[in-house]
Amino acid sequence: MQTYTLEKARAYETKYAPFISRDERPGYHLSPMVGWMNDPNGFCFHNGKYHIFYQYHPYSNHWGPMHWGHAVSTDLLHWQYLPVALAPDSPADCFGCFSGSAVTLPDGRHLLMYTGVQRVKALNELDVDIQNQCIAIGDGLEYEKYPGNPVISGEDLPENLSRRDFRDPKIWQEPDGSYRCVIGNRTEDGSGAILLFSSPDCLHWKYEGILDRSYNEYGRMWECPDFFPLDGKQVLMVNSQDMSALGNEFHNGNNSICILGHFDPQTKEFHREQICSVDYGLDFYATQTTLAPDGRRIMIAWMQNWDALGGQPQEQKWFGQLTIPRELRLQDGKLLQAPVREIEALRDRKVAYTNLRIREETTLRGIYGRMVDLTITVRPMSDSSYSLFRIKFAMGSQHYTSISYRPQTSELHLNRSHSGSNRDYNHRRKCLVRNRNGEIKLRLLLDRFSAEIFVNDGEQVLSTVLYTPQTADGISFLSDGDAIINVEKYTLIP
Ligand code: FRU
Repeated sequence: MQTYTLEKARAYETKYAPFISRDERPGYHLSPMVGWMNDPNGFCFHNGKYHIFYQYHPYSNHWGPMHWGHAVSTDLLHWQYLPVALAPDSPADCFGCFSGSAVTLPDGRHLLMYTGVQRVKALNELDVDIQNQCIAIGDGLEYEKYPGNPVISGEDLPENLSRRDFRDPKIWQEPDGSYRCVIGNRTEDGSGAILLFSSPDCLHWKYEGILDRSYNEYGRMWECPDFFPLDGKQVLMVNSQDMSALGNEFHNGNNSICILGHFDPQTKEFHREQICSVDYGLDFYATQTTLAPDGRRIMIAWMQNWDALGGQPQEQKWFGQLTIPRELRLQDGKLLQAPVREIEALRDRKVAYTNLRIREETTLRGIYGRMVDLTITVRPMSDSSYSLFRIKFAMGSQHYTSISYRPQTSELHLNRSHSGSNRDYNHRRKCLVRNRNGEIKLRLLLDRFSAEIFVNDGEQVLSTVLYTPQTADGISFLSDGDAIINVEKYTLIP
């Protein structure tokens, strides 16, 4: 077995990160210092800064023995890399430091709770990986693994729960000072479940029960859970593997799911009321939220799709990026998302048009770019409605990605078939949006390698990675039938 150490990973980062220039990275989305990134971990505000960690394999652009990469920021947009924080270097985690979360302890120390993967011999002598929960404590830079790891293992679980799929603790502190965490698992029917645990000190944990489960309806394994109050409701967010498409809400493969309900602290039961998708785009998974000092609930996720890994361009020197951090709120029983307001400080060179009549494909002076914050409101002419409205962006002579809206069916289509990918994985997604008499508002956040589309003030969001050459920076508008548009565009200067 190869051994992985922090020293080795840090030496590697220091040597190879300088080979990736700023222009080769996203402008304001976090990418790994070197190599591979998947889930965001340990998202928190600690000692005056936001910290984010991430599933990290520094040595290649592919998933491998998991480390925790680390970065800090004061505005959630400019990230400073810190040295890799965890390596799979102890008996409890030598096959990977999988996803987890962080809290600040009352004495000011920073605690990370993560899944340690161990390999053991099964009864048939074959190797199997088992997953347990581990702790590391530090000062925001250096972390020491707790010698009593793992702090929660399969031994602590009832018989019907899985020892092999038991991962991604999300920890938080209750007002009485005690701690809770939720962890992904699978029940006897083979499908996902979220377990609740409690602890007086983060080191000694008690199993409290199952909060909710898939019953084979919403995918197999439920991973990367989160559980938090939001505007009078309780949200259980889960990331589900291997789903079959369900109506217009969930697509095949891995989905991020938002379950709204209420929690009874006496019985420790969660009562599900509503279930919806978190993001309707092509690349979005492994959500994690944190509470900002000003009370905002902020969510971030991996802007990637496990089924689209073959799409990574050979020449790219890193792989994987995180979404823009998003403020969450509930309105009329709906989850709303908005890019963190800090992005307004990056806005420059405003260009605006009002009440423009659009018919054939039109470009507008000053409306172009690949690092852009563009808001567009489309409405029908008073006496006739358009049947299709389309925006093309990241557009050059051979490339574009489009969003199309059809008011008759209220369908919104995202299509990146012409974005420059030469691989045959899925490039299209559609979702149903709220019909507001043919009016729709779209906010498009473009970065060098991605687009995030916020529909109707964040009622829905569609995220996608783009590998289109940077020279393709055109934006056009087209309507079948007359449409009236307002456009406001800012160049983003990170
Ligand atoms: C989700 C996930 C997590 C796990 C991690 C491993 O994308 O499968 O459940 O902790 O990735 O890298």
